[in-house]
Amino acid sequence: MIRVAIVGVGNISKLHTDAYLAFPERCQIVALCDIAPEKCEERKESLHIEGARIFSSHTAMLDAIKGQIDLVSVCTPPYCHAGITIDCLKAGCNVVVEKPMSASLEECDAMLAAEKESGKVLACIAQNRFRDPIAALKKVVDSGMIGRILHAQVDSFWWRGLHYYDLWWRGKWETEGGGCTLNHAVHHIDMLIWMMGMPEKVTAVISNAAHSNAEVEDVSVAILQYPKGALAQVTSSVIHHGEEQQLIFQGEKARVSAPWRVCANLAGSNAFPLPEHDEALEKKLNDFVEAIPPLPHQVHTGELDNVLTALEKGSRPAIDGHDGRNTVELITAIYKSGATESTVKLPLSKNDPFYTVPGLLAGMPHFFEKTTSVKDFQGPITTGGDYVK
Ligand SMILES: NC(=O)c1ccc[n+]([C@@H]2O[C@H](COP(=O)([O-])OP(=O)(O)OC[C@H]3O[C@@H](n4cnc5c(N)ncnc54)[C@H](O)[C@@H]3O)[C@@H](O)[C@H]2O)c1
Repeated sequence: MIRVAIVGVGNISKLHTDAYLAFPERCQIVALCDIAPEKCEERKESLHIEGARIFSSHTAMLDAIKGQIDLVSVCTPPYCHAGITIDCLKAGCNVVVEKPMSASLEECDAMLAAEKESGKVLACIAQNRFRDPIAALKKVVDSGMIGRILHAQVDSFWWRGLHYYDLWWRGKWETEGGGCTLNHAVHHIDMLIWMMGMPEKVTAVISNAAHSNAEVEDVSVAILQYPKGALAQVTSSVIHHGEEQQLIFQGEKARVSAPWRVCANLAGSNAFPLPEHDEALEKKLNDFVEAIPPLPHQVHTGELDNVLTALEKGSRPAIDGHDGRNTVELITAIYKSGATESTVKLPLSKNDPFYTVPGLLAGMPHFFEKTTSVKDFQGPITTGGDYVK
């Protein structure tokens, strides 16, 4: 039985508690921890998490029940992911940390070093890989059926009202670590890297077009350059009504996307597209996708099932700290490119000023000053598209 603790019992932690409670034979929630411990009481009561102990700091929790926790879900704001993760690993716990892994590469590297030294496992949340349309698209790309990828269009389109950034930790470089590129597009950037690998160069523009209560960006557009000439364009935004999120890959032989759509052009004798398509390839791709069995569990439940399995079997989780770091590295490159109005080459070195949190804080523009800070918001949240249509 895997003994689980949750640190940070806010919005997203609900998806963690729900996921763990879906596997009662495999794990048990033994501790809930939040600087606002009344949130733990409320969660314990509403979900009937019998026997869970409540703490108002993760250090008090580790002191009190060290050796009695196997896995910690870190669901706090980004600025404290690294410190809490490292303390938990050092105390002998495995950790699954919410996205973004951290706000800086220096912190990611410290987390990876703590994982190595402790011999424990560090997993990072990127739950969209556990969605049927995304898992299917990955299989299509890996199958080679569309040929080499020439271009990717990643529309990380979200919409958040002005007051979104009034929450105390949001809208500040110091506590949120970034704006929509780090905290929203992180999902799509993870998916893009999963399918296409890391680019060689990044050129980006970042802006804040509509959220006059946030230091951070609310829109960015990045062009990524890959070996052999392939390009990707990534738009990260919280200003897009309708949140029409999609990933489109143009391969040598066909175009595929999530939400799923396939198109395979054929060239006429003058190389212009013929009215008829390569229907055989389109059918082959459609049949391939239809034959993929659905995942046993979706999103957070799917990923946490995978983390539990990794701990049970002694295997690696599907999404580990190296994946989390890659995503942070690409986002850091977007920030550096936007802030310095230049093209940035990857990988970023440890001497790069944007490698550290102080370097990022010094280098990033403050679009607006945050003037309002509210302690908590009530109401349901959403976590992005389902890529179904
Ligand atoms: N995977 C996703 O789709 C998704 C969606 C939303 C948020 N998130 C991520 O989850 C994390 C939390 O976001 P949220 O929306 O749940 O925020 P939230 O403000 O609703 O919850 C965060 C909780 O952490 C607590 N907290 C803050 N500092 C703490 C500390 N040092 N120790 C213990 N508890 C502490 C706060 O009191 C709060 O209850 C962020 O990293 C965010 O980016 C992920």
